[in-house]
Parts: sequence; structure tokens; C-alpha cells
Amino acid sequence: MRKIVIAGNWKMNKTVADSVKLAAEVVAAAKDVKNVVVAIAPTYLALAKVAEVVKGSNVKLAAQDVHWENQGAYTGKVSADMLKEIGVDFVIIGHSEQRTYFGETDETVNKKVRKVQSLGLTPIICIGETLAERKDGRLEAVLTTQVNGAYAGLSRDEALRTVIAYEPVWAIGTGVTASDDEAQEAHAFVRGLLAKLYGDSVAQSISIQYGGSMKPENAAGLLAQKDIDGGLIGGAALKADSFLGIVTPGETIHK
Ligand code: 13P
Repeated sequence: MRKIVIAGNWKMNKTVADSVKLAAEVVAAAKDVKNVVVAIAPTYLALAKVAEVVKGSNVKLAAQDVHWENQGAYTGKVSADMLKEIGVDFVIIGHSEQRTYFGETDETVNKKVRKVQSLGLTPIICIGETLAERKDGRLEAVLTTQVNGAYAGLSRDEALRTVIAYEPVWAIGTGVTASDDEAQEAHAFVRGLLAKLYGDSVAQSISIQYGGSMKPENAAGLLAQKDIDGGLIGGAALKADSFLGIVTPGETIHK
């Protein structure tokens, strides 16, 4: 059975003090959640403090990025070892904002995925097409390149310890969500790509989150889709009640 994984990507929002406060609210609100894996991804700066808040709770800790090297002269970067030391469980890799603004490529995504995998952390691999790519009929080609790139060199067992986030770029932060059918179609296609790489049983075991203007109003419809196994939430994750308004419908869904 696939897990429903709902993660809040706080992006570059919240001071350390505000992060600790929101984390404590999420921990309290999610204390009875059983069927959903709940995770929060504060900024690097707040991770260590938030780690103390989520310790012993059912809320997992996620980082928003990582570098693929262990240590050294990489100004501004943080290694997977460092994340592991403070209790990080998930690492978001290849977010479209990283791809658009900071030069992330399928190759660097792959290096990061392999590094966090080697340390037992779970990558949340972000993929998704721009509006221009979708309009040009290149949705499937883009997703194929991104999935094949991210999983290059990963064994079957390693693939089983990954999560994918399908985030259509045109839906991120725009208030425009993919319809239930559009999202389901893309998710089914991505699962088909995983099946080609690793066989159907592995493909059926990998959770594929949806991301892009997901909110309490549209969460139930999206999460009810056969191949949508959770969400990666931006704006709506910045308040505990709207974040939990997405987690709650996930509680009753079994895949
Ligand atoms: P929004 O939910 O704000 O659209 O952001 C989605 C996202 O990019 C999560 O990683």
C-alpha cells in the first residue's frame, strides 16, 4: 500500500521564531493523524530548532535542498550529512524554483538524489512542466526526461525509497490548480514511467504527490484520484489550520 505523504514547503518564509511557532502548531494539530505521513520543510536556518519541536511527534522534518558533496569549499551549501545529523527525514530536490532561478538540472537532481539516498534520507523529487511546454504538447517528453534523469543509476531498492512531487509550474503560487483529471492523467503517466524503469510493483509502491495551489478547498478532489498520493504544499502550508485542512481529507483515503 502506498503512503499518503503531505509535506509543507515553507520556501523562504518565516523567521526562526515564527518557524518554531508554526511547527508547534502543526505538531499539536496533527497529533492524532495516523494514515498520512506529515512533513514540514522550513528554511535551512530554522531546521535545527524545528527539529527539536517535531522530535517524538508524528511530524517529519524535510529540508528544501541539499548539496551532493560531503563537505568542502561550496559557499552557501549544506550537505546531506549535516541534514541527517539534526534529524531530517525528507529532502526536497529539483523544485522548479531551484530549476528556474538557481541552475538546477536533471544531472544535479540525480547527484543530490543519489547522495541523500546513500545516507538513508528520502528524496522528494520535484518534476513538472511549464505552461509553454504543456501548450506545445511537450508534457510527456518533459516528464520523461525529468524522471529518467532523476532516477539514473538508482537501483530498484533505492527507487522504493523515493517520493515524487508532480508540480506543474503554471500551478505553483498562481492560485490556478490542475483539475483533478489533468493531475490524475499526469500522475498516471509518471507511474507508467516508473513501471518502465523498475516494473509495475515498484511503480505501484512509490508515492506521487501533487503540488501547485493545493488548498483545503481542492485537496479532497485531488487526493481521491487513483494515482495522487499526497501533496507538496506551498502557500497553504504557512498556516497550521489550512495545512491541516489538506491533511485531514488524506486520513480517510487508502490506496
Ligand atoms: P503553492 O502551494 O504555493 O502553489 O506552492 C507549491 C509548491 O511549489 C510546493 O513545493
